[in-house]
Amino acid sequence: MSDLTVRTAGESHGPAVVALIEGLPAGLPVDIARIDADLARRQGGYGRGGRQQIERDRAEILAGVRRGRTLPGPVVLVVRNRDARLDQAEPVFRPRPGHADLAGALGFLDADVRSILERASARETAGRVAAGALAKALLAEFGAEVLAYVVRIGPAAAEVPADLADRRRRRDASDLYSPDPRADAAMKAAIDRARDAGDTLGGIIECVAAGLPPGLGRHTQWIEKLDGRLAQAVMSIQAVKGVELGLGFAAAERPGSQVHDPILYDAALGDSPGLGFVRPTNNAGGLEGGMTNGQPVVLRAAMKPISTLARPLPSVDLRTRRPEEAAFERSDVCAAPAASVIVEAVVATELAGAMVRKFGGDSLRQMKAAYEAWRRAAQDLS
Ligand SMILES: Cc1cc2nc3c(=O)[nH]c(=O)nc-3n(C[C@H](O)[C@H](O)[C@H](O)COP(=O)(O)O)c2cc1C
Repeated sequence: MSDLTVRTAGESHGPAVVALIEGLPAGLPVDIARIDADLARRQGGYGRGGRQQIERDRAEILAGVRRGRTLPGPVVLVVRNRDARLDQAEPVFRPRPGHADLAGALGFLDADVRSILERASARETAGRVAAGALAKALLAEFGAEVLAYVVRIGPAAAEVPADLADRRRRRDASDLYSPDPRADAAMKAAIDRARDAGDTLGGIIECVAAGLPPGLGRHTQWIEKLDGRLAQAVMSIQAVKGVELGLGFAAAERPGSQVHDPILYDAALGDSPGLGFVRPTNNAGGLEGGMTNGQPVVLRAAMKPISTLARPLPSVDLRTRRPEEAAFERSDVCAAPAASVIVEAVVATELAGAMVRKFGGDSLRQMKAAYEAWRRAAQDLS
């Protein structure tokens, strides 16, 4: 059966993070520089802690690629950790409120929360970002692109320009990964204030996927609905606590006439990704019935503040049950810019998976032929 799956392995301070990617079509060009560029972006962004000065993430290909193209078989990517000291790392007995520490210690019956935090850590997302670069390469073969950027940190909100190329250019020039240079100073100031106070911040990330064919995903079974799959993928990112599509929560406050996007048709646009069906608004965020509708997919993710605080909150020593301050170890003050890179990667992976499931994934050539045949059929539904 054609499907695309990504699994990761590896601890924050283990030897490496590994991604196993199954279901990519054979013949997909693999550009290691593109993977490394995304890994470098994941490490960057204003507000990061000391760890990112130590690591210089690069992907190595262990399996599934020959002469720059995927083979029929799983791809294995490895990102080595420079700060590899898993066996030497100190035990941690004072769980941090907001982290996986207490829940994991009780669930896995281990008072040393080091056993939990090493895998809960967002270091794992180096694997998901590396895999996402391959997913983006697959989408690009079909003229689709995915772009994520930061739209809010603390009180500072970015204005998002209408043009996607403008958004990308501005985002790439910003160390907040925001599409609005005027918001950057206020975002930095908010992060600086939090750092000075021994505190942390989250943020809001927006992600757009354009150029997708309509009809990706299925309405027929809950697990196949693309809106649900995207929400799961994004919610699974460390510290993401909210996901909305299109108008999202704001749709609940409006009458239907101010929410639903009218359907128009323009024959001159018959060759566009939307096959000529035009929606003057995109409140649905490009998804109806769990399927893409030809409009850009628009998704937002809310990231909570980092839970390791330089001024720690009250906690308890898990051995003695006595009150103690929560543990502190080197940590980010705000990681919303880095999280935007991860959102982009997991959204691309989910969308590439929907392409593979619809058009078959044995080889890129076969997939393109299936895609073209479907397009021809969709241009004439009569
Ligand atoms: C890019 C990124 C970097 C993060 N860096 C830190 C960090 O330095 N310190 C920390 O306590 N949490 C950090 N987090 C968040 C924790 O990994 C996360 O809160 C924890 O695993 C618990 O999961 P949950 O918040 O999803 O419930 C980071 C998250 C992301 C996405």
